[in-house]
Amino acid sequence: MKIQVKDNNYSINIVYKKDDDLNKYLRENSDSKFLVITDDNVLSLYRNRIQSIMDGKNYFIYSFPAGENSKSIETYTNINKFLSEKNFNRGDKIIAFGGGVVGDISGFVASSYLRGIGFISIPTTLLSMIDSSVGGKNGINFLNLKNQIGSFYFPEYVHIDYSFLNTLDKRNINNGLAEIFKYSVLSDRELFDYLKNTHEIDYEKIIYKSLNIKLSFVKNDEKDRGNRQKLNLGHTLGHGIESISNYKLNHGESIGIGTIFIARASYKMGISKKDFSKDLIEAFKKYNLPTHFDFDTDEILEVLKHDKKINKNMINEIFPVKIGEVINKKLTMDELREVIELGKTNG
Ligand SMILES: NC(=O)c1ccc[n+]([C@@H]2O[C@H](COP(=O)([O-])OP(=O)(O)OC[C@H]3O[C@@H](n4cnc5c(N)ncnc54)[C@H](O)[C@@H]3O)[C@@H](O)[C@H]2O)c1
Repeated sequence: MKIQVKDNNYSINIVYKKDDDLNKYLRENSDSKFLVITDDNVLSLYRNRIQSIMDGKNYFIYSFPAGENSKSIETYTNINKFLSEKNFNRGDKIIAFGGGVVGDISGFVASSYLRGIGFISIPTTLLSMIDSSVGGKNGINFLNLKNQIGSFYFPEYVHIDYSFLNTLDKRNINNGLAEIFKYSVLSDRELFDYLKNTHEIDYEKIIYKSLNIKLSFVKNDEKDRGNRQKLNLGHTLGHGIESISNYKLNHGESIGIGTIFIARASYKMGISKKDFSKDLIEAFKKYNLPTHFDFDTDEILEVLKHDKKINKNMINEIFPVKIGEVINKKLTMDELREVIELGKTNG
């Protein structure tokens, strides 16, 4: 299946075990040098596959330790050093081959090295296939703050081969499913029911559906000033939880909990007529996703003070009205505190 993102001029190719399409794309750019950026886990699993894809091309592989801690200024500096040492120039390209960590840092390097060089994305986790590889947001963590430094920069080609999911562990599959649940709450009740009830997931279907939902929110708002902000459902609290758990909870798990909290608060505030946090909890349990996290509200507010969504002391929060519909509401930090407290408990 193919998706052409006209606004930002790139194509997304969803395939199963099909390196030919990728080879063809790379052959069309055969005069470029390539840096394949990956992490140590992915490299140990896919070294041969990478070598066979890149066979005959002028390329290097750069790998770093897997995990969120590598999304750092140090890794960013080291990759830039490597590019300079190998004389990469504007006609050369970066290929991100890995999950969201690899994608975020590679995209940021691609956007800033020589003010921007070519960028190809090959996501290998479910989360990166349905979310981080499209939409143009890149970045690194800084001073223990998520994505504190980054850029908007679009890939020229996204190659999603969901056969990579065959080696991905359950927890990371479920991490991606949590984001897909978020998409369903945003705008697709049918997707929610499908995930809740299915016995065998059709990955092609959910990747395609998820990307179309994401792209519909990104369209005409690449810089995140309006409709795109709805994609942040569950993310204010989610990012805070991810950070104060010291990344023991992963991104999807954290924003899943954030979505449950905000659904509960939404009901108590009269924004939604039904407390569908209960439906979310039931569905999440099926996929072993955590549904609660204990935290101190002051501690989390301290982290949230740095949230990129804060503008003139107001934060734009997304509240679900029902599964398939959300609204925006601007909150002061005091109001956000109340919302968090409302989300903490049932009743
Ligand atoms: N830019 C965006 O729009 C956006 C959106 C959502 C999330 N993110 C970011 O994405 C990151 C999370 O991404 P992630 O969940 O993919 O994490 P990740 O990149 O850390 O990957 C998770 C783990 O899976 C391993 N892995 C990757 N592919 C594999 C495969 N095919 N088989 C076996 N193991 C594999 C990795 O080595 C890692 O250990 C976070 O930093 C988050 O902030 C960015």
